[in-house]
Amino acid sequence: MSIQRFVGRPDWYTTFNPETLATTGTALRWGVVATGNIAATVTADLALLEDAVLQAVSSRRAGTAAEFAESFGFASHYYDGGPDGTSPAGYLQLMADPAVDVVYIATPHAAHYDIAKAALDAGKHVLCEKALTITAAEARALIALARERKLFLMEAVWARFVPGFQRALEILESGEIGQVKWVRADLGFPAPQDDSARIWAPADGGGALLDISVYPLLWAWGTLGRPDSVAATAELTALGVDSQNTLTLSYANGAQAQLISYLSSHGPRVASVSGTEGYLETIGSVNNPTGLRICAGWDNERVEMFEHPGSGYTYQLREVTRCIQGGLTESATMGLDDSLAIMELFDDARRQMGVSYANDSRTDL
Ligand SMILES: NC(=O)c1ccc[n+]([C@@H]2O[C@H](COP(=O)([O-])OP(=O)(O)OC[C@H]3O[C@@H](n4cnc5c(N)ncnc54)[C@H](OP(=O)(O)O)[C@@H]3O)[C@@H](O)[C@H]2O)c1
Repeated sequence: MSIQRFVGRPDWYTTFNPETLATTGTALRWGVVATGNIAATVTADLALLEDAVLQAVSSRRAGTAAEFAESFGFASHYYDGGPDGTSPAGYLQLMADPAVDVVYIATPHAAHYDIAKAALDAGKHVLCEKALTITAAEARALIALARERKLFLMEAVWARFVPGFQRALEILESGEIGQVKWVRADLGFPAPQDDSARIWAPADGGGALLDISVYPLLWAWGTLGRPDSVAATAELTALGVDSQNTLTLSYANGAQAQLISYLSSHGPRVASVSGTEGYLETIGSVNNPTGLRICAGWDNERVEMFEHPGSGYTYQLREVTRCIQGGLTESATMGLDDSLAIMELFDDARRQMGVSYANDSRTDL
């Protein structure tokens, strides 16, 4: 087996490379909503982009807003009530800030629709964490609003842009492993049992499906396309969210995919894509593989390894930046029709699993 280690900029590594940090146009002024785990990780990567200005952050709480602003160097910070206790929610103050061009939303999923709608209503472009919304109906309404207002909107499926996934698609397109017949992918981790934590709480859209399944699904979606049917099973907690689920996807051409997402066990976190001439599998987690093992036939095996700046989020941030700078309202790579179709698939899976959320019965869309 030959092992090739790609460091820096190999020939094929042209679109998505460390130069992703270099400016591609007029600087964008970013507002970040929420100060939790992913807000901090993505903001640290955002600060690496030459044409990103950390303009404002909002939080529900004064102390965390100030602390987050200071640690990353945001020009302004907003919090519920404001200094005199009478101002609207911090995120609404941020939307009213004329210095903010684009808003990154990093709250639990159940709040995504309302906050993204407020941003679009205020004329801001939006990058919203996954899951884009809780329901397909919310996603449909949000997408219609963004299109009507001619504003950029993208679901933050960063894994769509990382080098390991991009390279896998390139290998498939080259025909090296032939026609894809099946995909198997898993992702998860043992989350501490705490019904109030957003990952478990029904009010926050808790459960493995909305939190994790988009990543294994990406491998099936990217290699085989939108499935013709999904069969979903799950183990539910006492509060009715899925602690693990299995999605079996079927395609009219006979291809299949089996995807497992989990919050109560360890797992290999591997994606395998099997074709008529060979197969490939990820090394490292499916959402940002550090490498690929490619087996083209029985005796021809190699490994390709990848490096990336920051924590791997710069690729999606460059995509958002480049799209907005270029006057695009949608990414061709992580498009809104795909996000909607994924939410429709999740609605279908939830019906089969017996999982529902308060957002299912909203009447204001
Ligand atoms: N792309 C990725 O790799 C990745 C990784 C993890 C999570 N995520 C996604 O990012 C989102 C947040 O996840 P997280 O792990 O960062 O969660 P987290 O650590 O709990 O942070 C969420 C933050 O949102 C705010 N918040 C909490 N409840 C809220 C509510 N009901 N309404 C409005 N704001 C609320 C809080 O910030 P304030 O107190 O400052 O308001 C909180 O710190 C989820 O949608 C998740 O799926 C993405």
